[in-house]
Amino acid sequence: MSGVVEVHAPAKINLWLRVLAREESGYHTLESLFAAVSLADQLTIARTPRSGVELVVRGEVDTGPVDRNLVYRAGVAFLERAAIGEGVSIELEKRIPSAAGLGGGSSDAAATLRGLNHLFDEPLSQPDLLDLAIRLGSDVPFFLAPTPYALGWGRGERLLALNPLPERQVLIAHPGEAMPTGDAFRRLAELRGSEPVPRARVITLDQLQDWSEVAGLAENDFEEPAFERIPRLAAAKSWMMDTGAAIAMLSGSGASMFGIFNPAAELAPLVSRLESEGWRCWRERTLEHWPSPPAGIDFPPQVR
Ligand code: C5P
Repeated sequence: MSGVVEVHAPAKINLWLRVLAREESGYHTLESLFAAVSLADQLTIARTPRSGVELVVRGEVDTGPVDRNLVYRAGVAFLERAAIGEGVSIELEKRIPSAAGLGGGSSDAAATLRGLNHLFDEPLSQPDLLDLAIRLGSDVPFFLAPTPYALGWGRGERLLALNPLPERQVLIAHPGEAMPTGDAFRRLAELRGSEPVPRARVITLDQLQDWSEVAGLAENDFEEPAFERIPRLAAAKSWMMDTGAAIAMLSGSGASMFGIFNPAAELAPLVSRLESEGWRCWRERTLEHWPSPPAGIDFPPQVR
């Protein structure tokens, strides 16, 4: 077996994101419809005789220290759980902006787990990988799901993988300012005051298999706090809607906005307008299946 593997780590958007009850831990239980998109990071993972994890990050560099990077933490957790004495070196090529509501760090962590499991000849079962995934972060299990379109509850550990919807164009736009997750939860709690806690939705699976039905259900509870802090997010939303977006919304707790458009929609004028106002834009598409695996990898792993 080769001692090197390359793994793609796609970003996600949330077609809906609802914040439900606050648990005793202080964390909130969420309800979210996830879809993966073509914007992706890339990891190259190689076995080394030295123990431990060496990580080099290039591109959209995460400014945090390496040992707090989720790839590093995923690597260390994997080697420990699988009781592997050897080490690995990981090169992470970042394209997904960090801390932008696009799940980049979580996808990188999931790609690390998948890549390492392949490289060391599958020492961990899918339940073991999922257990490591949820400890690493709320969005990580989605990136191990069998399909790139799934409904998730709790902290993302309860997932229902769905048949992907037909491909659409996705415009992702980032304002260049961050919306810290903790602040988003805090402000949302203040805005809600003593209102009753929203309940999980009752929906049929059929409703999730049709873009126009999904568009009718699209909402993100974090828009109010995010739009309050970064008012130009609301302008981007209306420009996207004016250009014919079926959905135009904040992703995650922000601050990226995304628009879902028909495959033939002409997006160049919208992109020019956003870029001239200082937005960074990525013209992407939703995924109907996960990116092609490297030869021989069991991808996506089946979550049962
Ligand atoms: O997951 P992360 O550590 O980035 O979350 C930052 C803060 O957001 C947490 O400390 C918590 O206050 C809040 N949070 C929450 N419920 C979640 C996720 C995060 O209340 N499901």
